[in-house]
Amino acid sequence: MTDRRVQVAIVGAGPAGMLLAHLLAADGIESAVVETRSEDYVASRIRAGILEQSTVDLLHSCGLGDRLTREGDRHRGIYLQWPEERHHLDFVDLTGRSVWVYGQTEVQKDLVAARAAEGQEIHYEVSDTALHDLETDRPSVTFTDASGTRQRIVADVVVGCDGSFGPSRHAVADPATWEKTYPYSWLGILADVAPSTDELIYAYHPDGFALHSMRSATVSRLYLQVPNETDVAEWSDDRIWDALAVRLGHGQDGWHLEPGSITDKSVLPMRSFVSAPMRHGRLFLAGDAAHIVPPTGAKGLNLAIADVGLLVPALVDLLRKDDPHLADAYSDTALRRVWRCTHFSWWMTTMLHATGDPFEEQLRLSQLRWVTSSEAGATGLAENYAGLPIGF
Ligand code: DHB
Repeated sequence: MTDRRVQVAIVGAGPAGMLLAHLLAADGIESAVVETRSEDYVASRIRAGILEQSTVDLLHSCGLGDRLTREGDRHRGIYLQWPEERHHLDFVDLTGRSVWVYGQTEVQKDLVAARAAEGQEIHYEVSDTALHDLETDRPSVTFTDASGTRQRIVADVVVGCDGSFGPSRHAVADPATWEKTYPYSWLGILADVAPSTDELIYAYHPDGFALHSMRSATVSRLYLQVPNETDVAEWSDDRIWDALAVRLGHGQDGWHLEPGSITDKSVLPMRSFVSAPMRHGRLFLAGDAAHIVPPTGAKGLNLAIADVGLLVPALVDLLRKDDPHLADAYSDTALRRVWRCTHFSWWMTTMLHATGDPFEEQLRLSQLRWVTSSEAGATGLAENYAGLPIGF
């Protein structure tokens, strides 16, 4: 067993773990990251693509905003629609805040490049990761590295950024958990075709929800509500484009959906999950390790980044000044925003997905009419979608 000593051991090299390592380094705090997957897998897995204002501000503030400025696409708002109706909500007019189309894959590339330039210690393709002595001030992480050697990293603090399947969340003793599984899933596609819209379209249709998103001027990302346990093999390219055309209103007021070559197809389950507290002794959790939201509203990545934005000053005070106040407040402060986003994601999901229940359908339509016609309703949606300040 080889032993290493660092200030912070980070479990998980996704965007939360890598941003944490980056921000800690800017404050002179050394970290080591362990990750079960390969570097290529983490970099190429397809995730959401919408960054809210506070995420963009944070990335800029730590030197990660250059490519985002050049290649990201700033959107003023979104379209909300239902059969025969399409309405634009302008978040800038409503709240002064906007959102950016810039895929998680791109954020991850920028983080990996920035950390590589500074020689960040990262161990990919590790196995048997375990956390130890979290109630002491010498917690540690053990793992088997890619070459088969057992290693131990002894730290002052361990941060679990390893998602809902990683070991970190199981190290919190007796957590309170809340969970909801939705009775539908999303079929997501990437297509080599210019988006048929300038900003995202969220569409309710009695056949099911559809979303027209995008990654660039030449790549579109679209989603369809499908039953749970759907096998992608049941969905030919033609069937997907036909369903998207119906639900997104092809032909309505002269609007056309342009189909194109599909390069990726996958089914995403929809789940809400919160585990509290987000701290156990010298272990702190950030991102999906502590909470999962359904994708509607694109909060998952933004929430993970907000956790890290709160955790960094807390760890800096703890490790450099021996001041535990922010670290002690971290879980409660973070959970306040987690529950706001959990509610917003649940609300967007239930407002836009079809359940076949005629009473619920009328409530859904009433809610859609309200948020698109009342400034108070629209502002509430805009404030949550474009994102509340990190410390909310
Ligand atoms: C995307 C995903 C979402 O869940 C959403 O609400 C908006 C956009 C996306 O992948 O582009």
